Amino acid sequence: MRTQVAIVGAGPAGLVLAHLLARTGIESVVIESRDRDYVERRIRAGVLEQGTVDLLHELGLDERLRREGMVHRGIELRFDGERHRIPLSDLTGGRAITVYGQQEVVKDLIKARLEAGGQILFEAEAASVEQPVSDRPVVRFRQSGELYDLECDFVAGCDGSHGVCLGAIPANSLTVYQKDYPVAWLGILAEVAPSTEELIYAYHERGFALHSMRTPHLSRLYLQCRPDERLEDWSDRRIWDELQRRFALEGWSLAEGPIIDRSITPMRSVIHEPMQYGRLLLAGDAAHIVPATGAKGLNLAVSDVRVLADALAEWYRTGDDSLLDAYSQTCLRRVWRVEHFSWWMTSLVHRFDEDGPFEHQLHLAHLRYLCGSTAASTSLAENYVGLETA
Ligand code: FAD
Ligand code: DHB
Repeated sequence: MRTQVAIVGAGPAGLVLAHLLARTGIESVVIESRDRDYVERRIRAGVLEQGTVDLLHELGLDERLRREGMVHRGIELRFDGERHRIPLSDLTGGRAITVYGQQEVVKDLIKARLEAGGQILFEAEAASVEQPVSDRPVVRFRQSGELYDLECDFVAGCDGSHGVCLGAIPANSLTVYQKDYPVAWLGILAEVAPSTEELIYAYHERGFALHSMRTPHLSRLYLQCRPDERLEDWSDRRIWDELQRRFALEGWSLAEGPIIDRSITPMRSVIHEPMQYGRLLLAGDAAHIVPATGAKGLNLAVSDVRVLADALAEWYRTGDDSLLDAYSQTCLRRVWRVEHFSWWMTSLVHRFDEDGPFEHQLHLAHLRYLCGSTAASTSLAENYVGLETA
Protein backbone atom coordinates (compact mmCIF):
# COMPACT_ATOMS: atom_id res chain seq x y z
CA MET A 1 0.00 0.00 0.00
CA ARG A 2 1.12 3.52 -0.66
CA THR A 3 -0.17 7.01 0.13
CA GLN A 4 1.22 10.51 0.47
CA VAL A 5 0.65 11.02 4.22
CA ALA A 6 0.12 8.08 6.59
CA ILE A 7 -1.84 9.32 9.60
CA VAL A 8 -1.66 7.15 12.72
CA GLY A 9 -4.72 7.67 14.96
CA ALA A 10 -8.32 8.74 14.30
CA GLY A 11 -8.64 11.15 17.21
CA PRO A 12 -9.24 14.88 16.72
CA ALA A 13 -5.63 15.45 15.51
CA GLY A 14 -5.59 12.71 12.88
CA LEU A 15 -9.08 13.36 11.57
CA VAL A 16 -8.76 17.15 11.30
CA LEU A 17 -5.41 16.64 9.53
CA ALA A 18 -7.00 14.25 7.01
CA HIS A 19 -9.63 16.89 6.20
CA LEU A 20 -7.10 19.74 5.93
CA LEU A 21 -4.91 17.70 3.59
CA ALA A 22 -7.84 16.65 1.42
CA ARG A 23 -8.72 20.32 1.00
CA THR A 24 -5.39 20.90 -0.76
CA GLY A 25 -5.57 17.67 -2.75
CA ILE A 26 -3.10 15.68 -0.61
CA GLU A 27 -3.95 12.02 -0.20
CA SER A 28 -3.83 10.32 3.19
CA VAL A 29 -4.74 7.05 4.88
CA VAL A 30 -5.76 7.07 8.55
CA ILE A 31 -4.86 3.99 10.59
CA GLU A 32 -6.85 3.52 13.81
CA SER A 33 -6.36 0.67 16.28
CA ARG A 34 -9.91 0.75 17.71
CA ASP A 35 -13.22 0.09 15.97
CA ARG A 36 -15.39 2.95 14.74
CA ASP A 37 -18.01 2.51 17.43
CA TYR A 38 -15.39 2.73 20.19
CA VAL A 39 -13.81 5.97 18.98
CA GLU A 40 -17.23 7.52 18.45
CA ARG A 41 -18.30 6.74 22.02
CA ARG A 42 -15.12 7.62 23.91
CA ILE A 43 -16.12 10.40 26.32
CA ARG A 44 -13.47 13.02 26.83
CA ALA A 45 -13.25 16.76 26.24
CA GLY A 46 -16.15 19.09 25.60
CA VAL A 47 -14.97 22.67 25.28
CA LEU A 48 -14.05 24.04 21.85
CA GLU A 49 -12.12 27.29 21.56
CA GLN A 50 -13.27 29.94 19.12
CA GLY A 51 -10.41 29.06 16.74
CA THR A 52 -11.34 25.36 16.70
CA VAL A 53 -14.96 26.20 15.89
CA ASP A 54 -13.86 28.63 13.16
CA LEU A 55 -11.67 25.96 11.56
CA LEU A 56 -14.47 23.37 11.58
CA HIS A 57 -16.67 26.03 9.95
CA GLU A 58 -14.04 26.76 7.27
CA LEU A 59 -13.88 23.04 6.51
CA GLY A 60 -17.68 22.83 6.21
CA LEU A 61 -17.78 20.40 9.15
CA ASP A 62 -19.91 22.42 11.54
CA GLU A 63 -23.44 21.68 10.37
CA ARG A 64 -24.41 19.69 13.51
CA LEU A 65 -22.04 21.68 15.73
CA ARG A 66 -23.93 24.88 14.83
CA ARG A 67 -27.26 23.23 15.63
CA GLU A 68 -26.36 21.31 18.78
CA GLY A 69 -23.29 23.06 20.19
CA MET A 70 -23.89 25.44 23.08
CA VAL A 71 -22.15 28.81 22.75
CA HIS A 72 -20.98 30.12 26.15
CA ARG A 73 -20.03 33.76 26.66
CA GLY A 74 -18.91 33.48 30.27
CA ILE A 75 -17.82 31.11 33.03
CA GLU A 76 -18.43 31.17 36.76
CA LEU A 77 -15.77 30.99 39.46
CA ARG A 78 -17.25 29.84 42.77
CA PHE A 79 -15.37 30.07 46.05
CA ASP A 80 -15.87 31.08 49.69
CA GLY A 81 -19.65 30.72 49.33
CA GLU A 82 -19.80 33.29 46.50
CA ARG A 83 -20.19 33.21 42.73
CA HIS A 84 -18.41 35.48 40.24
CA ARG A 85 -18.94 35.61 36.50
CA ILE A 86 -16.03 36.10 34.10
CA PRO A 87 -17.63 37.65 30.98
CA LEU A 88 -15.41 35.96 28.39
CA SER A 89 -16.92 37.60 25.32
CA ASP A 90 -17.02 41.13 26.76
CA LEU A 91 -13.34 40.83 27.64
CA THR A 92 -12.16 39.38 24.31
CA GLY A 93 -13.94 41.38 21.63
CA GLY A 94 -16.80 38.92 21.27
CA ARG A 95 -14.94 35.60 21.27
CA ALA A 96 -16.64 32.62 22.94
CA ILE A 97 -16.31 28.90 23.64
CA THR A 98 -18.66 26.20 22.37
CA VAL A 99 -19.62 23.19 24.47
CA TYR A 100 -19.85 20.16 22.16
CA GLY A 101 -18.55 16.69 23.05
CA GLN A 102 -15.27 15.50 21.57
CA GLN A 103 -16.95 12.26 20.48
CA GLU A 104 -19.51 14.31 18.53
CA VAL A 105 -16.67 16.14 16.73
CA VAL A 106 -15.07 12.76 16.00
CA LYS A 107 -18.38 11.35 14.67
CA ASP A 108 -18.86 14.34 12.36
CA LEU A 109 -15.28 14.15 11.04
CA ILE A 110 -15.39 10.40 10.38
CA LYS A 111 -18.74 10.59 8.58
CA ALA A 112 -17.65 13.48 6.35
CA ARG A 113 -14.29 11.86 5.54
CA LEU A 114 -15.82 8.52 4.57
CA GLU A 115 -18.57 10.20 2.54
CA ALA A 116 -15.87 12.08 0.59
CA GLY A 117 -14.19 8.76 -0.23
CA GLY A 118 -11.39 9.18 2.33
CA GLN A 119 -9.67 6.10 3.73
CA ILE A 120 -9.86 5.36 7.46
CA LEU A 121 -8.80 1.84 8.41
CA PHE A 122 -10.36 0.82 11.73
CA GLU A 123 -9.05 -2.02 13.91
CA ALA A 124 -5.69 -1.44 12.22
CA GLU A 125 -2.98 -1.09 14.83
CA ALA A 126 0.32 0.54 13.94
CA ALA A 127 3.15 -1.66 15.19
CA SER A 128 6.10 0.51 14.13
CA VAL A 129 7.34 3.35 11.98
CA GLU A 130 10.21 2.19 9.79
CA GLN A 131 13.00 4.38 8.34
CA PRO A 132 11.54 7.74 9.45
CA VAL A 133 14.77 9.46 8.37
CA SER A 134 14.41 8.70 4.67
CA ASP A 135 12.17 9.88 1.87
CA ARG A 136 10.24 6.56 1.96
CA PRO A 137 9.05 5.99 5.54
CA VAL A 138 6.76 3.05 6.21
CA VAL A 139 4.06 2.43 8.81
CA ARG A 140 3.82 -1.26 9.65
CA PHE A 141 0.38 -2.16 10.96
CA ARG A 142 -1.62 -5.19 11.97
CA GLN A 143 -5.18 -5.83 10.80
CA SER A 144 -7.13 -9.09 11.29
CA GLY A 145 -3.94 -10.83 12.39
CA GLU A 146 -1.97 -9.86 9.25
CA LEU A 147 0.94 -7.42 9.04
CA TYR A 148 0.86 -4.77 6.31
CA ASP A 149 3.24 -2.02 5.20
CA LEU A 150 1.93 1.42 4.31
CA GLU A 151 4.57 3.34 2.37
CA CYS A 152 4.31 7.10 2.32
CA ASP A 153 6.11 10.43 1.96
CA PHE A 154 5.38 11.49 5.57
CA VAL A 155 4.05 9.91 8.77
CA ALA A 156 1.80 12.01 11.01
CA GLY A 157 1.98 10.55 14.51
CA CYS A 158 -1.48 11.44 15.87
CA ASP A 159 -1.77 8.33 18.04
CA GLY A 160 -2.27 9.93 21.44
CA SER A 161 -0.39 9.51 24.69
CA HIS A 162 -0.14 5.69 24.46
CA GLY A 163 0.76 5.48 20.78
CA VAL A 164 3.80 3.96 19.06
CA CYS A 165 5.03 6.85 16.89
CA LEU A 166 6.89 8.60 19.69
CA GLY A 167 8.82 5.34 20.22
CA ALA A 168 10.29 5.64 16.71
CA ILE A 169 12.32 8.66 17.87
CA PRO A 170 15.57 7.62 19.60
CA ALA A 171 15.54 8.68 23.26
CA ASN A 172 18.82 10.60 22.80
CA SER A 173 17.14 12.83 20.18
CA LEU A 174 14.34 13.85 22.57
CA THR A 175 14.01 16.14 25.55
CA VAL A 176 11.09 15.23 27.79
CA TYR A 177 9.58 17.74 30.21
CA GLN A 178 7.14 16.22 32.67
CA LYS A 179 5.19 17.15 35.77
CA ASP A 180 2.80 14.88 37.63
CA TYR A 181 0.32 16.68 39.85
CA PRO A 182 -0.79 15.02 43.09
CA VAL A 183 -4.42 15.26 41.96
CA ALA A 184 -6.84 13.58 39.54
CA TRP A 185 -10.39 14.19 38.31
CA LEU A 186 -13.25 11.83 38.85
CA GLY A 187 -15.50 12.67 35.90
CA ILE A 188 -19.13 11.65 35.48
CA LEU A 189 -21.77 11.99 32.81
CA ALA A 190 -25.26 12.15 34.34
CA GLU A 191 -28.73 12.04 32.82
CA VAL A 192 -29.96 15.25 34.34
CA ALA A 193 -30.46 18.78 33.04
CA PRO A 194 -27.46 20.99 33.92
CA SER A 195 -28.07 23.09 37.04
CA THR A 196 -26.27 26.01 35.42
CA GLU A 197 -26.21 27.81 32.08
CA GLU A 198 -22.46 28.41 32.17
CA LEU A 199 -19.55 26.26 33.38
CA ILE A 200 -18.75 26.51 37.08
CA TYR A 201 -15.18 26.13 38.36
CA ALA A 202 -15.46 25.71 42.14
CA TYR A 203 -12.55 26.06 44.56
CA HIS A 204 -13.37 24.53 47.95
CA GLU A 205 -11.43 23.49 51.04
CA ARG A 206 -12.39 19.88 50.26
CA GLY A 207 -11.04 20.21 46.72
CA PHE A 208 -11.94 21.42 43.24
CA ALA A 209 -15.20 20.67 41.41
CA LEU A 210 -16.37 21.53 37.88
CA HIS A 211 -19.89 21.63 36.49
CA SER A 212 -20.01 21.27 32.72
CA MET A 213 -22.57 19.79 30.35
CA ARG A 214 -23.04 18.08 27.01
CA THR A 215 -26.69 18.74 26.06
CA PRO A 216 -29.72 20.35 27.74
CA HIS A 217 -30.36 16.89 29.26
CA LEU A 218 -26.84 15.67 30.07
CA SER A 219 -24.56 17.07 32.76
CA ARG A 220 -20.80 16.52 32.89
CA LEU A 221 -19.28 16.95 36.35
CA TYR A 222 -15.81 16.51 37.74
CA LEU A 223 -14.41 16.41 41.26
CA GLN A 224 -10.83 16.46 42.44
CA CYS A 225 -9.64 13.19 43.94
CA ARG A 226 -6.28 11.53 44.55
CA PRO A 227 -4.55 9.95 41.53
CA ASP A 228 -4.42 6.52 43.22
CA GLU A 229 -8.13 6.36 44.06
CA ARG A 230 -10.26 3.53 42.71
CA LEU A 231 -13.62 4.09 41.02
CA GLU A 232 -15.08 1.17 43.01
CA ASP A 233 -14.65 3.23 46.18
CA TRP A 234 -16.93 5.95 44.84
CA SER A 235 -20.59 4.99 45.08
CA ASP A 236 -23.10 7.22 43.28
CA ARG A 237 -24.22 8.57 46.67
CA ARG A 238 -20.66 9.43 47.68
CA ILE A 239 -20.04 11.23 44.35
CA TRP A 240 -23.20 13.35 44.60
CA ASP A 241 -22.63 14.15 48.29
CA GLU A 242 -19.13 15.36 47.54
CA LEU A 243 -20.30 17.45 44.57
CA GLN A 244 -23.12 18.93 46.69
CA ARG A 245 -20.63 20.02 49.35
CA ARG A 246 -18.17 21.60 46.94
CA PHE A 247 -20.79 23.52 44.94
CA ALA A 248 -22.88 24.53 47.99
CA LEU A 249 -24.25 28.07 47.59
CA GLU A 250 -27.22 29.70 49.22
CA GLY A 251 -30.21 29.89 46.87
CA TRP A 252 -28.71 27.40 44.38
CA SER A 253 -29.09 23.64 44.16
CA LEU A 254 -27.43 20.87 42.19
CA ALA A 255 -29.84 18.47 40.48
CA GLU A 256 -28.89 14.78 40.58
CA GLY A 257 -29.60 12.00 38.07
CA PRO A 258 -28.45 8.55 36.92
CA ILE A 259 -24.70 8.36 36.27
CA ILE A 260 -24.09 6.79 32.84
CA ASP A 261 -20.30 7.10 32.55
CA ARG A 262 -17.44 7.59 35.01
CA SER A 263 -13.65 7.67 34.89
CA ILE A 264 -10.59 8.92 36.78
CA THR A 265 -8.03 11.04 34.91
CA PRO A 266 -4.71 11.97 36.55
CA MET A 267 -3.46 15.51 35.96
CA ARG A 268 -0.11 15.74 34.25
CA SER A 269 1.96 17.89 31.94
CA VAL A 270 4.30 16.31 29.37
CA ILE A 271 6.13 17.89 26.44
CA HIS A 272 8.38 16.05 24.00
CA GLU A 273 10.86 18.18 22.09
CA PRO A 274 11.29 18.23 19.16
CA MET A 275 7.94 17.11 17.71
CA GLN A 276 9.58 15.78 14.56
CA TYR A 277 12.21 13.28 13.50
CA GLY A 278 13.00 13.07 9.80
CA ARG A 279 9.71 12.50 7.99
CA LEU A 280 7.84 11.60 11.20
CA LEU A 281 5.82 14.50 12.64
CA LEU A 282 4.00 14.20 15.97
CA ALA A 283 0.80 16.11 16.73
CA GLY A 284 -1.61 16.38 19.66
CA ASP A 285 -1.37 14.10 22.70
CA ALA A 286 1.34 12.03 20.98
CA ALA A 287 3.65 15.02 21.51
CA HIS A 288 2.30 16.71 24.62
CA ILE A 289 -0.24 16.41 27.45
CA VAL A 290 -1.84 19.22 29.43
CA PRO A 291 -3.69 18.79 32.73
CA ALA A 292 -7.44 18.99 31.99
CA THR A 293 -8.10 22.27 33.84
CA GLY A 294 -8.93 24.83 31.17
CA ALA A 295 -9.93 22.23 28.55
CA LYS A 296 -6.99 22.72 26.20
CA GLY A 297 -5.95 19.20 25.06
CA LEU A 298 -8.23 18.87 22.07
CA ASN A 299 -7.78 22.48 21.01
CA LEU A 300 -4.00 22.18 21.11
CA ALA A 301 -4.16 19.03 18.98
CA VAL A 302 -6.13 20.99 16.37
CA SER A 303 -3.62 23.88 16.44
CA ASP A 304 -0.75 21.46 15.76
CA VAL A 305 -2.34 19.90 12.69
CA ARG A 306 -3.23 23.28 11.28
CA VAL A 307 0.51 24.14 11.30
CA LEU A 308 1.36 20.69 9.92
CA ALA A 309 -1.16 20.86 7.08
CA ASP A 310 0.16 24.27 5.96
CA ALA A 311 3.74 22.97 6.00
CA LEU A 312 2.86 19.84 4.01
CA ALA A 313 0.81 21.85 1.50
CA GLU A 314 3.79 24.14 0.92
CA TRP A 315 6.12 21.18 0.41
CA TYR A 316 3.81 19.44 -2.08
CA ARG A 317 3.12 22.70 -3.93
CA THR A 318 6.65 24.12 -4.20
CA GLY A 319 9.09 21.57 -2.76
CA ASP A 320 10.08 24.15 -0.14
CA ASP A 321 10.70 22.42 3.19
CA SER A 322 11.29 25.50 5.38
CA LEU A 323 7.83 25.33 7.01
CA LEU A 324 8.26 21.61 7.63
CA ASP A 325 11.69 22.17 9.17
CA ALA A 326 10.18 24.80 11.45
CA TYR A 327 7.13 22.64 12.35
CA SER A 328 8.22 21.69 15.87
CA GLN A 329 9.48 25.15 16.74
CA THR A 330 6.31 26.81 15.44
CA CYS A 331 4.04 24.47 17.41
CA LEU A 332 6.05 24.58 20.61
CA ARG A 333 5.55 28.31 21.09
CA ARG A 334 1.82 27.73 21.46
CA VAL A 335 2.30 24.43 23.30
CA TRP A 336 4.35 26.10 26.04
CA ARG A 337 1.89 29.01 26.32
CA VAL A 338 -0.98 26.58 26.77
CA GLU A 339 1.06 24.37 29.13
CA HIS A 340 1.64 27.43 31.28
CA PHE A 341 -2.04 28.40 31.28
CA SER A 342 -3.16 24.85 32.15
CA TRP A 343 -0.56 24.57 34.95
CA TRP A 344 -1.59 27.99 36.29
CA MET A 345 -5.31 27.16 36.28
CA THR A 346 -4.64 23.75 37.83
CA SER A 347 -2.64 25.41 40.63
CA LEU A 348 -5.33 28.06 41.11
CA VAL A 349 -8.37 25.87 41.72
CA HIS A 350 -7.06 22.67 43.37
CA ARG A 351 -6.33 21.96 47.01
CA PHE A 352 -3.01 20.18 47.39
CA ASP A 353 -2.17 17.87 50.31
CA GLU A 354 0.54 20.16 51.60
CA ASP A 355 -1.79 23.20 51.55
CA GLY A 356 -2.54 24.65 54.97
CA PRO A 357 -4.49 27.73 56.08
CA PHE A 358 -1.82 30.02 54.55
CA GLU A 359 -2.14 28.50 51.07
CA HIS A 360 -5.94 28.51 51.40
CA GLN A 361 -5.93 32.28 52.02
CA LEU A 362 -3.55 32.77 49.07
CA HIS A 363 -5.95 30.85 46.80
CA LEU A 364 -8.83 33.04 47.92
CA ALA A 365 -6.81 36.24 47.49
CA HIS A 366 -5.81 35.18 43.96
CA LEU A 367 -9.38 34.27 43.00
CA ARG A 368 -10.76 37.55 44.38
CA TYR A 369 -8.14 39.48 42.42
CA LEU A 370 -9.02 37.60 39.22
CA CYS A 371 -12.69 38.47 39.63
CA GLY A 372 -12.14 42.05 40.76
CA SER A 373 -9.50 43.24 38.30
CA THR A 374 -10.34 43.76 34.64
CA ALA A 375 -6.68 43.25 33.73
CA ALA A 376 -6.51 39.89 35.55
CA SER A 377 -9.85 38.60 34.29
CA THR A 378 -8.99 39.65 30.72
CA SER A 379 -5.83 37.55 30.92
CA LEU A 380 -7.86 34.54 32.04
CA ALA A 381 -10.52 35.15 29.38
CA GLU A 382 -8.18 35.54 26.40
CA ASN A 383 -6.34 32.35 27.26
CA TYR A 384 -9.57 30.46 27.98
CA VAL A 385 -11.25 31.28 24.64
CA GLY A 386 -7.90 30.67 22.91
CA LEU A 387 -5.20 33.15 21.92
CA GLU A 388 -5.21 34.09 18.25
CA THR A 389 -1.41 34.10 18.21
CA ALA A 390 0.79 32.57 20.87
P1 FAD B 1 -6.46 10.96 20.86
O1 FAD B 1 -7.81 11.55 20.92
O2 FAD B 1 -5.98 10.17 22.02
O3 FAD B 1 -6.42 10.06 19.55
C1 FAD B 1 -5.39 9.13 19.32
C2 FAD B 1 -5.96 7.98 18.51
O4 FAD B 1 -4.92 7.09 18.14
C3 FAD B 1 -6.96 7.15 19.29
O5 FAD B 1 -8.14 7.00 18.55
C4 FAD B 1 -6.26 5.83 19.53
O6 FAD B 1 -7.15 4.74 19.59
C5 FAD B 1 -5.34 5.76 18.32
N1 FAD B 1 -4.15 4.93 18.49
C6 FAD B 1 -3.35 4.81 19.58
N2 FAD B 1 -2.34 3.96 19.34
C7 FAD B 1 -2.50 3.54 18.06
C8 FAD B 1 -1.77 2.63 17.23
N3 FAD B 1 -0.68 2.00 17.67
N4 FAD B 1 -2.21 2.41 15.97
C9 FAD B 1 -3.32 3.07 15.51
N5 FAD B 1 -4.05 3.92 16.26
C10 FAD B 1 -3.63 4.15 17.51
N6 FAD B 1 -9.14 17.63 26.91
C11 FAD B 1 -9.85 18.73 27.05
O7 FAD B 1 -9.56 19.71 26.33
N7 FAD B 1 -10.91 18.77 27.94
C12 FAD B 1 -11.29 17.66 28.65
O8 FAD B 1 -12.27 17.67 29.38
C13 FAD B 1 -10.57 16.48 28.51
N8 FAD B 1 -10.93 15.36 29.17
C14 FAD B 1 -10.23 14.23 28.95
C15 FAD B 1 -10.61 13.06 29.61
C16 FAD B 1 -9.90 11.87 29.40
C17 FAD B 1 -10.32 10.61 30.12
C18 FAD B 1 -8.77 11.87 28.54
C19 FAD B 1 -7.96 10.59 28.32
C20 FAD B 1 -8.41 13.04 27.89
C21 FAD B 1 -9.13 14.22 28.09
N9 FAD B 1 -8.79 15.41 27.43
C22 FAD B 1 -9.49 16.51 27.62
C23 FAD B 1 -7.72 15.49 26.50
C24 FAD B 1 -8.24 15.40 25.07
O9 FAD B 1 -9.27 14.45 25.00
C25 FAD B 1 -7.06 15.04 24.21
O10 FAD B 1 -6.12 16.10 24.32
C26 FAD B 1 -7.42 14.82 22.74
O11 FAD B 1 -8.15 13.62 22.61
C27 FAD B 1 -6.16 14.77 21.89
O12 FAD B 1 -6.46 14.35 20.60
P2 FAD B 1 -5.45 13.46 19.78
O13 FAD B 1 -6.09 13.27 18.46
O14 FAD B 1 -4.10 14.02 19.87
O15 FAD B 1 -5.36 12.07 20.58
C1 DHB C 1 -14.73 20.21 30.43
C2 DHB C 1 -13.48 19.74 30.67
C3 DHB C 1 -12.51 20.58 31.17
O1 DHB C 1 -11.26 20.13 31.38
C4 DHB C 1 -12.80 21.91 31.45
O2 DHB C 1 -11.83 22.70 31.96
C5 DHB C 1 -14.07 22.37 31.20
C6 DHB C 1 -15.03 21.52 30.68
C7 DHB C 1 -15.76 19.30 29.88
O3 DHB C 1 -15.48 18.09 29.73
O4 DHB C 1 -16.87 19.73 29.59
